[in-house]
Amino acid sequence: MIECFASNWEKVQSFQARPDDILIATYPKAGTTWVSYILDLLYFGQTSPERQTSIPIYERVPFLESAFPFMDTGTELLEKLPTSPRIIKTHFPVQFVPKSFWKQNCKIIYVARNAKDNMVSYFHMDRMTLTQPDPGDWNTYFQRFMQGQMLYGSWYDHVNGWWKKKQSYANIHYMFYEDMIEDTGREINKLCNFLGLSPSEQLKTQISGKVNFDSMKNNDMVNYSTIGVMDFNVSRFMRKGKVGDWKNHFTVAQNEEFDEDYKKKINPALNFRTEL
Ligand code: A3P
Repeated sequence: MIECFASNWEKVQSFQARPDDILIATYPKAGTTWVSYILDLLYFGQTSPERQTSIPIYERVPFLESAFPFMDTGTELLEKLPTSPRIIKTHFPVQFVPKSFWKQNCKIIYVARNAKDNMVSYFHMDRMTLTQPDPGDWNTYFQRFMQGQMLYGSWYDHVNGWWKKKQSYANIHYMFYEDMIEDTGREINKLCNFLGLSPSEQLKTQISGKVNFDSMKNNDMVNYSTIGVMDFNVSRFMRKGKVGDWKNHFTVAQNEEFDEDYKKKINPALNFRTEL
């Protein structure tokens, strides 16, 4: 855990969720911002259009456990949010989610991304983020990812843990980054069904247009260019937005080693696609 986040632990754990809060949970780099933006547009795109052009996504959808010294903590931002429902982001593995979310039976959206692309995206994020230690070389990073020695722990435990929770807690919508890439409109429909929303076809088409990769890449309110802790000369937050970029990073030997290890760790009920 980032040290400053850990020092705010009690405050986050005692966070009081409201019944209409919506939690977006992900392992870092699985498509959090994409789904956050879709939800923000679904709920507030019509009623508060100015919100989209003046408030960055990390303030519209606060990051629950965030406690950087240079900005309000996630819980502070949440207390100040004037709108409801509150859409909240977390990277917590399931066992760290504050108890009030379960007590209030909040709706939770879990976004999962295949491990190979998730690892590559995380590597580039770590290279450019000034608040995180340098990731080291690719091979060292690759080994650390397989061992789960990462910020937020093991990818395998994360996706398996949330999948297991879904079997006993009905209010989780478990979705996949690859499905979003394949057919964003279809996945927006599924989200609307889960959330009990029925936007017009016109609104859904508008949203699909705003949330495509190139639009988001060029939108300063969602591309993290305003946050100031990322060196965009090294990499971009909206970097490639593809399924299969791992092929440009994994060697043949690494891929074999990875697949062998993966089989032992992943819940076989979870079927990730590494190419489309
Ligand atoms: P890449 O680094 O592979 O490009 P998160 O928001 O969880 O940090 O995830 C960031 C990843 O999601 C980045 O992946 C980013 O490019 C990708 N992403 C964000 N918006 C996207 C979109 N509209 N379409 C496709 N990928 C998107």
